Amino acid sequence: MSKFHPLTIANVRNETRDTIAVTFAVPDALRDSFAFQQGQHLTLRAQIGDEDVRRSYSICSAVQDGALRVAIKRTQGGLFSSWANDNLQAGHTIDVMPPMGHFNVPLDAANKKHYLAFAAGSGITPILSIIKTTLAAEPESQFTLFYGNRASSSVIFRDELSDLKDSYMGRLKLAYVMSREQQDIELFNGRITKDKAAQFLKYWVRADDIDIAFICGPEDMMHGVSEALQEAGLAKSQIKVELFAASIPKHAHQPRAASAVAATQQQTEVTVIMDGNAASFTMEQDKESLLDAGLRAGLDMRYSCKGGVCSTCRCKVIEGKVDMDVNYALEDYEIARGYVLSCQSFPTTARVVIDFDQAE
Ligand SMILES: Cc1cc2nc3c(=O)[nH]c(=O)nc-3n(C[C@H](O)[C@H](O)[C@H](O)COP(=O)(O)OP(=O)(O)OC[C@H]3O[C@@H](n4cnc5c(N)ncnc54)[C@H](O)[C@@H]3O)c2cc1C
Ligand code: FES
Repeated sequence: MSKFHPLTIANVRNETRDTIAVTFAVPDALRDSFAFQQGQHLTLRAQIGDEDVRRSYSICSAVQDGALRVAIKRTQGGLFSSWANDNLQAGHTIDVMPPMGHFNVPLDAANKKHYLAFAAGSGITPILSIIKTTLAAEPESQFTLFYGNRASSSVIFRDELSDLKDSYMGRLKLAYVMSREQQDIELFNGRITKDKAAQFLKYWVRADDIDIAFICGPEDMMHGVSEALQEAGLAKSQIKVELFAASIPKHAHQPRAASAVAATQQQTEVTVIMDGNAASFTMEQDKESLLDAGLRAGLDMRYSCKGGVCSTCRCKVIEGKVDMDVNYALEDYEIARGYVLSCQSFPTTARVVIDFDQAE
């Protein structure tokens, strides 16, 4: 489950000037491992120079497509995305971790729901997977998408969205919001902010008609839109968010007051359960995260962003206690059940047992 598999690239297509869509060939022996749900993401790994570089990329294909595809947008100055856009070609092999993530809701053919989505830039990637999968799986449900971009030339999946609109007449409503290209209706000019989302909810779509809203994009948009939705009457449980890591500032761990003044560092014995095996090591509390200590001890623990965003390092605490610094990935109900992000967790008891096998 936590392991990387080398997958051959079946196809690389230029979606826009700075975005490629990469389709993987999944051999029969790995079909079950790479079965995915709409809105999930893959962790890709490459050796770039001397560095082991890992990044998450959301799957953009529909569950029914039978294809495993991601879209990688070049980030200015970005290490992995620039390397991928410059180098990846059909026939190349790259390390890929099986799909992860919970940016979705269960589907049912009997549902008659109205889903709403806000996407900006490459945030369209998981949203496209969710829209395609949902419209195919729930014949009576409908989707409304507000999609923010600079200009038409930078719109990822423009043709595919237009085809979807034609295929699902009346069930997919699509509104483009452009920050550097003038459109006829003033409301659709600018960036998607809290104010703009509030206006969409006033003039364009009724909040009390919405069952679930999805938001994917940069952090400020995500918070603004989420606030507007809640002020319009949606419950937090009706709002699903996915944040892309590039916008996250690094956080420094703040030691707990008690141990900051302690003369000697407290020690913790950590046991990690992974792929049916248990391994133990000892670490100092407050000095490094469970993930960093585990990696230093030679364990092959899974991770990607190390910033509390991607949830690749998610595990369950089954004994002892930990403090978690930042969390942009886990929902409240997961934390209540004992799930933590190991890259953000620092032990606070003398013994801690974490389990990576309880995926749930
Ligand atoms: C769950 C999840 C799903 C994601 N899905 C997608 C997706 O579907 N498509 C997609 O394109 N992305 C996606 N991302 C984002 C992706 O994982 C990467 O964060 C993104 O591609 C940038 O990685 P990078 O290595 O190119 O940039 P990094 O090298 O990590 O750089 C990140 C930021 O730092 C800046 N930076 C880097 N080096 C310098 C420097 N020397 N000086 C100044 N600034 C610098 C860059 O400009 C950039 O803004 C997703 C992220 C998450 C967490
Ligand atoms: S590695 Fe991404 S949340 Fe921990």
